[in-house]
Amino acid sequence: MKNFATTALLVASVAVRARSSSEVDADCKVQAFVRAEDLAPDHISHGDLRIKVKPAHCADRVASVALRLQLDEFGEVKHLRAGAVLPEIEMSDNQTVSPDFLGFYGGSANDIVYDYGAYDRAMSDPAFWVVKAEERRAWSTEVVLFQNNPNFSKPMVAAFIVASPAVNYPPAVKNYRGGDSQPIRRHADSHLGYHYVAVVEFTNGTTVELPAGHTTFVPTSPPPPPPPGVPFSWNVTLGENKVHEELDLPQDKKNLADRQRCLPEELRSVFVAEVTLEEGNVVRGGQMLRGKVTVHATNGSTTMSDIRITFRATTNEHWATAQAVTGGDDKFEPSSQGLGRPVCVDEYAYVFKEKDGTTPSVWRSPSLSPSLQSRLRVAKPYFDFELEVPKSAVPDFSAFYSSVENWLELRLDVLYSQDADICMNGVDGSRCADAEDENPTDDAFEKTEEGLWDSHTPVGQAVEPRNCRRRLYLTGKVRINVLGNISTQSVDHYLKSGLPSPVILLPQADVVFAVAHPATIVEPIANTSARLLSPQGTFDPHQSRLNFYNFTRRAARAPGPSSRYNGGSYTGLLWKKKVVAMERGILLSEAAEFEAEAQGEIGGQHAFVVTP
Ligand SMILES: *[C@@H]1O[C@H](CO)[C@@H](O)[C@H](O)[C@H]1NC(C)=O
Ligand SMILES: *[C@@H]1O[C@H](CO)[C@@H](O)[C@H](O)[C@H]1NC(C)=O
Ligand SMILES: *[C@@H]1O[C@H](CO)[C@@H](O)[C@H](O)[C@H]1NC(C)=O
Ligand SMILES: *[C@@H]1O[C@H](CO)[C@@H](O)[C@H](O)[C@H]1NC(C)=O
Ligand SMILES: *[C@@H]1O[C@H](CO)[C@@H](O)[C@H](O)[C@H]1NC(C)=O
Ligand SMILES: *[C@@H]1O[C@H](CO)[C@@H](O)[C@H](O)[C@H]1NC(C)=O
Ligand SMILES: *[C@@H]1O[C@H](CO)[C@@H](O)[C@H](O)[C@H]1NC(C)=O
Ligand SMILES: *[C@@H]1O[C@H](CO)[C@@H](O)[C@H](O)[C@H]1NC(C)=O
Repeated sequence: MKNFATTALLVASVAVRARSSSEVDADCKVQAFVRAEDLAPDHISHGDLRIKVKPAHCADRVASVALRLQLDEFGEVKHLRAGAVLPEIEMSDNQTVSPDFLGFYGGSANDIVYDYGAYDRAMSDPAFWVVKAEERRAWSTEVVLFQNNPNFSKPMVAAFIVASPAVNYPPAVKNYRGGDSQPIRRHADSHLGYHYVAVVEFTNGTTVELPAGHTTFVPTSPPPPPPPGVPFSWNVTLGENKVHEELDLPQDKKNLADRQRCLPEELRSVFVAEVTLEEGNVVRGGQMLRGKVTVHATNGSTTMSDIRITFRATTNEHWATAQAVTGGDDKFEPSSQGLGRPVCVDEYAYVFKEKDGTTPSVWRSPSLSPSLQSRLRVAKPYFDFELEVPKSAVPDFSAFYSSVENWLELRLDVLYSQDADICMNGVDGSRCADAEDENPTDDAFEKTEEGLWDSHTPVGQAVEPRNCRRRLYLTGKVRINVLGNISTQSVDHYLKSGLPSPVILLPQADVVFAVAHPATIVEPIANTSARLLSPQGTFDPHQSRLNFYNFTRRAARAPGPSSRYNGGSYTGLLWKKKVVAMERGILLSEAAEFEAEAQGEIGGQHAFVVTP
């Protein structure tokens, strides 16, 4: 045993020596880390760049390091060519359901077999589609932070500042979209990112660019108009979410036709929600939305049941929509997709938990779409609610490719009769004939008592209504205006031309702004096509179940220019870690060092100057 271990050690050290004797510059690895405060209008943000060079013999191979910060925006669209008509999905000549699709994959021998081939293939055929993607570089700013061949035998830190003019730039959001479980039909997407890039020049003359972190901008809003507490009242007719494209698919066409036959739309009740917000619909993150929603119903074939109220942020892809409309695609629907995660420190509460020995810190980011639910009935068709706007809610902001919009979403469950259910699904299909009567009990005690008679409801809790298929979901939404940081200073919107842009500087430097000159680069069509026109998957419900694993493997589409926007860590998080580490005495010795550095900077006033 002992001998073996010694031999292994010997071999290992020989290997290491052999490698180091043949070491060349190509082995040098540089890592760059930025921690920095968020950007804001008319504000100086502080930051540190840390450079780590490995292995040891490379300590003197770096000639200089510059740090660049830039705002890039990206938009892409896929729309139908003017006049193009997608192939119909026809019934197959062969009506035998493949045994592969039976049973486990949800197929039944009685299913009608359709041929999705032509329709699926059309999704990647440029004869039908126009694709376009472009990137807009709003501004870029750079400063040299290390020069004259410094000694990097240890990681080194250099301080910098970013001065921002009195201009509102858009907040950054992490957009995680990009996976698809079906072929892509009409499509719109956008990203934007403020990213730091370390530009490392080696002594041999080679230059590399390293992602060093990303940040965000916190725009300001003027104070809401006084008096702040004006009630806001709005009527919204609740309806079904209709997606035009779904009508291409036979499975959806059939469901819709059955629905119309058994539950004619013109005989259903009409539901109008009247929403009142006591303190208006202009709010800030962390504020409470207090209000009442009352549902007025006509006397038709459907009855109201539960109402759910959700605060939600969406992205309005206005650039893509305009492209499609101009390009002659009249069915392109202004998509409003869910927003990604905001780039802000509130998303990382778990990083700052004190170790108290009892609760291990658990990763749980706060919900960005808090919601509440209540049962409505004819005798009490209203719901008084209090919903907290998330602290990290992203303010409304219209950027070049898309806008952030905030909403109060309403979803009303409405019930229809057992007869209609049987008409649509057959006697066997109507699985919840007795799950819920049309006037579900509202008595808290009765519901709690009911809950004692099953094996899943916790004791003392009201029984949850069974997920019954005998319901339709009607939705409606009301715009909520979320403000940025309140400031009385007047601040321009960044899309106005001729405005100055942020500038990155050494801590003591005087601030001189330059006017931004945004540049737009259209992505080569081959690259856009690789993302949006590559053949993948099928709309055939049987096949797609069978090929589920292909989809999950393909979830990440070919990378686009925006894949680098979130490189490195979020610099605001790392900055807060430094601040908290100093507060908790973890960074004590360095604190003094930073203090001294900061003193020199805070002492000197920064002159704000704009050069044309
Ligand atoms: C210069 O050094 C870097 C870092 O080791 C290396 O990646 C690069 O290939 C070298 N360039 C040349 C031309 O040797
Ligand atoms: C019809 O389809 C089934 C299942 O895919 C297949 O097994 C059968 O061979 C087909 N029949 C003809 C005549 O193509
Ligand atoms: C770099 O710094 C290390 C440690 O501070 C020192 O041992 C080394 O000699 C220095 N290298 C050069 C080239 O000055
Ligand atoms: C909403 O509708 C109700 C009932 O029809 C009406 O009394 C109320 O004035 C309406 N409110 C608004 C803001 O239109
Ligand atoms: C409409 O109201 C009347 C009287 O209130 C009631 O008899 C009738 O059943 C209702 N119709 C429907 C479709 O609910
Ligand atoms: C935004 O406002 C909050 C609270 O007033 C403040 O703590 C924060 O520093 C502000 N953020 C910026 C970037 O100005
Ligand atoms: C286009 O795609 C190719 C292959 O993925 C890549 O090497 C190239 O950098 C891309 N061009 C642009 C402008 O993104
Ligand atoms: C899924 O993957 C299998 C095996 O790699 C392949 O044979 C099949 O054609 C794929 N299906 C689709 C729809 O891409």
